[in-house]
Amino acid sequence: MAELTRLGQVLHEEHFRILVSICELQNRVSGKAGGKAFEPGNDDDTEEINGLISFLDDVIAHDAFEEDEVFPLIRADGNGLVADQLAEEHMAIEPATHRLRALAVEILRHGPGEGRWTEFRQVAESLFAQMLRHLEMEEELILQRLHHLLDTATDHRLALQHLSARPRYAVETGTAAHN
Ligand SMILES: [Fe+2]
Ligand SMILES: [Fe+2]
Repeated sequence: MAELTRLGQVLHEEHFRILVSICELQNRVSGKAGGKAFEPGNDDDTEEINGLISFLDDVIAHDAFEEDEVFPLIRADGNGLVADQLAEEHMAIEPATHRLRALAVEILRHGPGEGRWTEFRQVAESLFAQMLRHLEMEEELILQRLHHLLDTATDHRLALQHLSARPRYAVETGTAAHN
């Protein structure tokens, strides 16, 4: 694997976080664990749901950045079909992400009844499968090509722009803005 550019490192770290969180979610909704719904009054469950909401917000921001800044680079490089395919995957992931977030909020407020937990599990399982495929594609089709798509100054500018919009990442990764 070629060394990643600065922006490539930032996106790769986010992909890794998304992968860890989506696998944790999959474990929570499948098998024996999946038979036990979140309980709104339970502190651990409340923390877990809030963590999930925050994770889903990160996914939404990550995808928006790719659509605004990264996919146009791929198109400009003559790979419109690749950009279209990745954008299509976003169009499938986005409604599932928003629906799962809405269900998480509803479960927090009103509990898992009235089919909410059942739907939550279904949407989470579907998002898991979509996300795994998508992350693999982007790692191969975007991150490995960023050297070719970006000059150093643009690479650093975009990495900084994205990190500035995601202060949590900047603090946690230490890749911030001073480099
Ligand atoms: Fe991505
Ligand atoms: Fe993406």
